[in-house]
Order: sequence, then structure tokens, then C-alpha cells
Amino acid sequence: MATNWTPAAWRQKTASQMPVYEDPEGIAAAEKTLLRYPPLVFAGEARSLRASLRKVAAGEGFLLQGGDCAESFAEFHPDKIRDTFRVLLQMAVVLTFGAAMPVIKVGRMAGQFAKPRSAPTERIGEVELPSYRGDIVNGFDFDAQARRPDPQRMLQAYNQSAATLNLLRAFAQGGYADLHQVHRWTLGFLARSPQGERYHDLANRIDETLQFMAACGITAETTPQLRETEFYTAHEALLLPYEQALTRVDSTTGDWYDVSAHFLWIGDRTRQPDGAHVEFLRGVHNPIGIKCGPSIAPDELVRLLDILNPDDKGGRITLIARMGAGKVAQYLTPLMSRIKAEGRTVIWACDPMHGNTVKSSSGFKTRPFERILAEVREFFAVAGDVDVHPGGVHFELTGEDVTECTGGAQEITDESLSSRYHTACDPRLNANQALELAFLIAEKLKEDRAERDEERRSAAAE
Ligand code: PEP
Ligand code: CO
Repeated sequence: MATNWTPAAWRQKTASQMPVYEDPEGIAAAEKTLLRYPPLVFAGEARSLRASLRKVAAGEGFLLQGGDCAESFAEFHPDKIRDTFRVLLQMAVVLTFGAAMPVIKVGRMAGQFAKPRSAPTERIGEVELPSYRGDIVNGFDFDAQARRPDPQRMLQAYNQSAATLNLLRAFAQGGYADLHQVHRWTLGFLARSPQGERYHDLANRIDETLQFMAACGITAETTPQLRETEFYTAHEALLLPYEQALTRVDSTTGDWYDVSAHFLWIGDRTRQPDGAHVEFLRGVHNPIGIKCGPSIAPDELVRLLDILNPDDKGGRITLIARMGAGKVAQYLTPLMSRIKAEGRTVIWACDPMHGNTVKSSSGFKTRPFERILAEVREFFAVAGDVDVHPGGVHFELTGEDVTECTGGAQEITDESLSSRYHTACDPRLNANQALELAFLIAEKLKEDRAERDEERRSAAAE
């Protein structure tokens, strides 16, 4: 257990990216209400995820993380939850087939509401207002009333998270994720695309395998893993009053857990070693992620690991690199080499989204698909050079047919971005683009596995 730690200890430190609530009584009342609300996840589930991630860190699994940049109150709809869940399932199937190893599925869902911003205020003409910080803090509309941070929004975010999680649990365990349904997961618009066809071929092979297994007596009745899946939730632990109110002692172990999600991460803007966000996450026993952008130096990363995982426990830390295409070799190589030389147990994952945001000629914030692909390729190349397991990926995606990232097999252009641009924050991959990436990564993982097998064989022969 972390020494000198309480869920409120972060309040003694500098907390960047925090909204200013004008009404101290309002925020205190909301926190008090949240403290009485039931946990959204159970400590035992966070422990199971940690155990699975321990295997990933040891090279025996792969982490697939994805979902909205920001969930929103206005877009809350069961179909959207289903579509995102479904595309993650499809990606997981593709990856499992390629990598021949377990794929751990974690949604940026059921709590991903708070957003860090590059500036505290936004100016349009003569008017300057607080920046939009996600629906858990304030409203998106550019007017003074909407932009005022409102503590009651934390309760609405909690309720929406609870309802979302309820549906996700039903999907994961109630038959929707049954591998025998692998064909049905294809969305209407996906079925007609090249990625959809490729997916269908794979689904046919899975069907054949399932038939063979059934003939051997392995069916959904005898083997629940065919019928159910494990699905975990994650978000950025940014809004600390909310996270603190949902931090509880686990009665089984006596340890603290943040029960707002299974997995929490620290953003690239809030990872100061002496800052409030690091202080908060130091004391909870959930698995955690650290976003690593080009500005983090190897020494600082080692210091963060000393604080957040002093006993070097496997499964605790996922390092999520988000360097930007063209910069991965330069910035990631020294980090990976150093962490390896220090003998630290971490998962290295790749977020190819946040370093590749550009403004399109049509004025939309977008991410060119080829740059996203390039960053993934560079990540695998660096991991190969340093001889580190490429352990996971972290995407902003949706199961819908949006036009937010340019390129991909549908060749979305700058001009066509406006046709279905729905994100409340950053541009997301659509289902086609997400699946295209999954196929690429599956190939990379297959190559990686073949290389490792070869090394093992020649080592055994020597
Ligand atoms: C995010 O994941 O939405 C995010 C803001 O990422 P980063 O902290 O890496 O910029
Ligand atoms: Co984002």
C-alpha cells in the first residue's frame, strides 16, 4: 500500500487542467452524493484485468483499447454503445487470429467524459469564455451559461456510465459476443466494403474451426469462453473530485481502488511527477496507463515508474506512446531502451491518434489515415529494434460510418469531412478504418511471432 496516501492527498499538489467551480457548496454537495453511490466496477474485476495485463507485459497477450475521444450526453444511445462494442469485438477477432494470443479488450467507454484542453479559455471575436472540458464539466455551446462548470454534471456522467456499463455487461455475457455470431457482427455499410469482405473470409474460417471443435465436443455449452467475453472500461483520470468520490477500500484486500472504471490513465498534459494526478493514481490499485508524448524524457519516465509502481509489479503500468508519425524512432527508441535497461515491467502500447491531429483545408480538425498507419508501423519497427513486445494499441474510434479521419479504403477527402462529422472532440476512426488497421496490426503481430519462434528455434539448436 502506498505510504502517506489518502484519496484526498492530491489536493495538496498542483492540479493542472482542473475546472474552476464558482459555487463551493455545489461541488461539495455533488461529491457527497457521489460518495454514497455504488461502485461502477468491482475491485476484483480490476484485479482480473491486472492479471491479464501481467501476461501481456510478459509478451503473452495484446491490449486493444478504443472508443470515443469524449462521450457526450447528447449522443447517448444504445445503438452507439452497441456499434462501438461490436467494432472492438471484430478488431479483437482479427487480432486474435493474427497474433494467436489473447486480446484484452478495454473500451474508452462508460466514463470517458473529461477532456484536457490546450488553453483554459476560448475566444470568438470579442467574447472570451472558459474552454469546453467535456460533458462531465460544462456544455459545448459557446455561451456563458453552458460553459460555466456545473458540478451536477458529475452525477449525470455517473448515471450515463452506469447505464452504459450495464449494457456492455449484457452484451459481453448475454450471448451477443458468442463467437458463433461472428458473421452477424458485420454492420450494413461494412459488409459492402473491402474490409467487410476480408472480415467475412476470416469469419468463415472461424466458423469452420468452431464446427471442427464442436465435433471434438468443445461447444459453447462446455466452454463458456466461446459464448462470453471479458470487456473492461477505461478513461482518463482527469477530473479528480469525481475520481476521489468513487475511490473505495476493497473489503477483500483492504486496498484502495478507483471504482469509476477498471483502468485509468494519466494524460500527456497531467503527468507531472509532483502533480496532483500522479499523486492520486499512486494510491489506487487499478491498472493504469501513462500517455507518453515527445516531451517526456527517459529520466522523467523512470521517476514516474518509481512513484507509480515502486515494486515493479507486472500488469500495473501500460505506457501509451503518442509521438506522431515520423517522430517515433527519434522519441520512442530512447524511452523503450532505457525502460528495458532498467529492467522495468511495463506494457508498451501505441496511440497513433493524438500525435497526428491536423487542420484540414476545409477547416475541420482531422487525422490523415496514412499518418495513423505510419505511426503504427513505426511503433512496431522500434519495438522490433529494441526487442520489446509491442503490447497494445489505443484508438479513438466509433462503430459508425463517420467521416472524421481522411483517407482509408473509402478515400475520405478533406471536402467530404463535413458529410458525417459528429465527434464532440477529436476525430475518430470509423468502423472501416478501424478494421483496416486491425488487419495491418494482425499481420505485424504474426511477423513478430514468427521472428520470435525462429529465434527460439535457433537458440535451442545452438
Ligand atoms: C486522449 O486520449 O483523449 C488525450 C487527450 O490524449 P493525450 O493525453 O495523449 O493528449
Ligand atoms: Co482525444
